[in-house]
Amino acid sequence: MKNVIGVIMAGGRGTRLDPLTRIINKHLLPIYQKPMIYYSLSNLILAGIKEIIIVTNPNDVLNFKTLLDPIFSKSDHKLTVIKQEKPNGIAEVFRLIEESRNRRDVLLHLGDNLFFGHDFTTRIISTISKKNSAVFSYRVKDPNAFGVIKMHKNRVIEIVEKPKAFISDLIVTGLYFYKDHDIKLSDRIEFSERGELEITDVNNLIVKNSHLNVVELQRGDIWYDCGTFDDLANATQFIKFAEERHSLQIGDLEEILKKMYLRS
Ligand code: G1P
Repeated sequence: MKNVIGVIMAGGRGTRLDPLTRIINKHLLPIYQKPMIYYSLSNLILAGIKEIIIVTNPNDVLNFKTLLDPIFSKSDHKLTVIKQEKPNGIAEVFRLIEESRNRRDVLLHLGDNLFFGHDFTTRIISTISKKNSAVFSYRVKDPNAFGVIKMHKNRVIEIVEKPKAFISDLIVTGLYFYKDHDIKLSDRIEFSERGELEITDVNNLIVKNSHLNVVELQRGDIWYDCGTFDDLANATQFIKFAEERHSLQIGDLEEILKKMYLRS
């Protein structure tokens, strides 16, 4: 996937995981026996992405590099860790990576999102080979905590960020695909009421001016947004259970990189 660069957002305050996040970045906390960041990195690598940028807080750059540089140096994948000076929101990413992106498409993964499912990687590969930008969506019981998708006849009308009233149970997860031709629309957005550059504002500009595909995760696919202690505990239980039943490991970054290296 030469024309696609992978980006993982791993900054933010992590206030819902206080007091742990006073001393450690959320994305380095464990989900079962691996740091959270391994799972998103594994998804991008399994999707064939060769170059990945992690965006994190200034004080956390060194920790990510200490953890990951030794693993990536043994592979033919390129990893860069860059800082976001302030928690200015997910959509600031396009401004931060503009130069290194060099007109390539972007597969954007929020580092606290955990996905697992049959053929999940195949669906990412198929999505990033299409000509439109896309969001990966999921049906949930508590949609109002997320970006909610308003659809009409298979077309997105609008995405509403954390609506007060019920719109639909179909929400936007933290996995997005942006075509180069849509990324310049992100220059137009302004800070929201909560003081952030919102990814939902970029997505709505794409809905209005271009085309946004919705890739709905299937029955049996698992998605966790690991922002709270309950989410962390549930995700840990899920990985532990899956790994005890199968002989396979989920998100085993070193094994995945080694396999990809031998294959290339
Ligand atoms: C962000 C997005 C939201 C999306 C969610 C997925 O929310 O703004 O649209 O549904 O990630 O994890 P945040 O975690 O910044 O509140």
